[in-house]
Amino acid sequence: MTEHTPRNPVIAIDGPSGAGKGSVSRAIARALGCRYVDTGAMYRAVAWMATHEGLALDDEPALTALAERVELMLDDRTVLVEGHDVTRAIRTAEIDAAAARVARMPSVREVLVRRQRAYGAAGGLVMEGRDIGTTVFPAADVKIYLDASPEVRAARRASDPSHGLGSAPAALSDVASALDARDHSDRTRKSSPLTMAADAVRVDTTGIPLEGVVEQVLDIVRERLAARS
Ligand code: DC
Repeated sequence: MTEHTPRNPVIAIDGPSGAGKGSVSRAIARALGCRYVDTGAMYRAVAWMATHEGLALDDEPALTALAERVELMLDDRTVLVEGHDVTRAIRTAEIDAAAARVARMPSVREVLVRRQRAYGAAGGLVMEGRDIGTTVFPAADVKIYLDASPEVRAARRASDPSHGLGSAPAALSDVASALDARDHSDRTRKSSPLTMAADAVRVDTTGIPLEGVVEQVLDIVRERLAARS
């Protein structure tokens, strides 16, 4: 059932790949009647468009200009880039790696963070990413940091039907090492690396089924929103 909160909250959900952010954020947005914005999809969309246009992935000025001009439409099911449905195309191993490179560039981040703030200006949204609670919306009403053990995160990613479509099922060890490399890149980049905000609530999803995590996160969200209203 949809439930409207008295205000239009901003709910930040951060954490590493495979922690369950996508499924949990969508469910929370649905339960609260909020919009859902997947900021990872924005970095992926820029990487996809760059590949599509044949831009070099180390050309920061060109990628920054692309991040400014590219037309993006995101909802809880679909990602459109310049009107093309890239929902599936942005979830390949190639785009995983390209998006992590693009996301290391400070000036690309600056542009996308500005666009993310514009999406959230009116509130009423659940935004998922790596730096939402630390950089994009440091004053978010609720900040959740989802985590899970590296084994569980790799297993989830390997069995995620939205990843690696069209290719043979990925070997768990390959997924684990690719995930590890990407996490390392996300945590060690200079510009807003993945870290937990001091006022975020950490939820470890290891061994908890999705419904259990959603329930736990919804309880935290309701409690925090009640405390703020
Ligand atoms: O969440 P994801 O795997 O779709 O994210 C794609 C890439 O973008 C990944 O390398 C992390 C990065 N990212 C980021 O740096 N900041 C965000 N707010 C969201 C994603």
